[in-house]
Amino acid sequence: MMPKDREEPMGEFRRDLDAEDSLHVPHSARVWNRFLGGKECYDVDRSAAADITDICPGMGAAVRQARGFLVRAVHHLAAQEGVGQFLDVGCGLPMPEVFPRPYPDRIVHQPSPHAPTPWPATHDLHEVARRAAPDARVLYVDNDPVVGAHAHALLTCGRDGVDFIDADLRDPGDILSQARELLDFSKPIAVVLGAVLGHLGVDPLDPHAALTDPQQARPETRAVVDALIAALPRGSFLAAYDLDGGDPEAREAMLVFCDHGASPYLPLPRRLFGELFDGLEVLPPGVVRPEQWRPLREPDADAPVWCAVGRKL
Ligand SMILES: C[S@@+](CC[C@H](N)C(=O)[O-])C[C@H]1O[C@@H](n2cnc3c(N)ncnc32)[C@H](O)[C@@H]1O
Repeated sequence: MMPKDREEPMGEFRRDLDAEDSLHVPHSARVWNRFLGGKECYDVDRSAAADITDICPGMGAAVRQARGFLVRAVHHLAAQEGVGQFLDVGCGLPMPEVFPRPYPDRIVHQPSPHAPTPWPATHDLHEVARRAAPDARVLYVDNDPVVGAHAHALLTCGRDGVDFIDADLRDPGDILSQARELLDFSKPIAVVLGAVLGHLGVDPLDPHAALTDPQQARPETRAVVDALIAALPRGSFLAAYDLDGGDPEAREAMLVFCDHGASPYLPLPRRLFGELFDGLEVLPPGVVRPEQWRPLREPDADAPVWCAVGRKL
């Protein structure tokens, strides 16, 4: 399963991958793009996605459900909670246009009186936020250079109030100091963490140890989230989702991903995911599967993902 020219897993999230390395090692942003129906991925990513699907056949649907949650959560925050600033850390690649709409054309449960325009063709976070709040500011953050190149070309590209910074979630102080230049920290900000927390807190030299013990404490993950939330004013939000570390198929699938040489991903079980919202007011319906978070139609799947939105009081 390991790429032929590698003797050991990559471990740490490598910032020094060159284009040649990239061809041989799957990357979570590109594998996610594959699951979402995009084409911004290499053979290694397609092969990793196929092996993940062999172990966890519901993974593709889970990723799409999870993105659907993010779209509904961002729409809700912009349209109903008056949030005008979003900090999307681990933003990933731009959304493929083929991504199926996670809602019908007519919004049923969350109508926005300020959103007369049609839904955008794609569901990048700034498009969803700006549909409800046209002046919304969005700051995308990622530590992957390929993601950065796509973000500059397709997400920010001269749009006022939409920016990208190259920063690492493991250094929340750096994210915050760069973000202060671009966002107004006297007004509410929604921090968005979509399928990125699992990259934290894994020993790169022994990723399997952590992956086989899902309940293992995750002090780094907790510290990073706490540091981000502490810097926000009251009335700010955390919107997050992650794979369910308590689901044996999802966990096994991430072991396979890791064995492909990818940066290890350790999914969070419900208890650890829920603890990230300690001290916040978790919006109804709570910590749930993505298809249960204010669904626009009957839930039809049980994706191995936890998601929630919390308000800083
Ligand atoms: C699985 S993708 C999720 C993309 C997007 N948030 C979504 O929900 O579709 C994980 C993203 O997190 C980024 N990432 C991983 N570790 C990171 C870190 N330490 N700091 C910043 N970004 C990171 C990856 O580059 C990738 O774009």
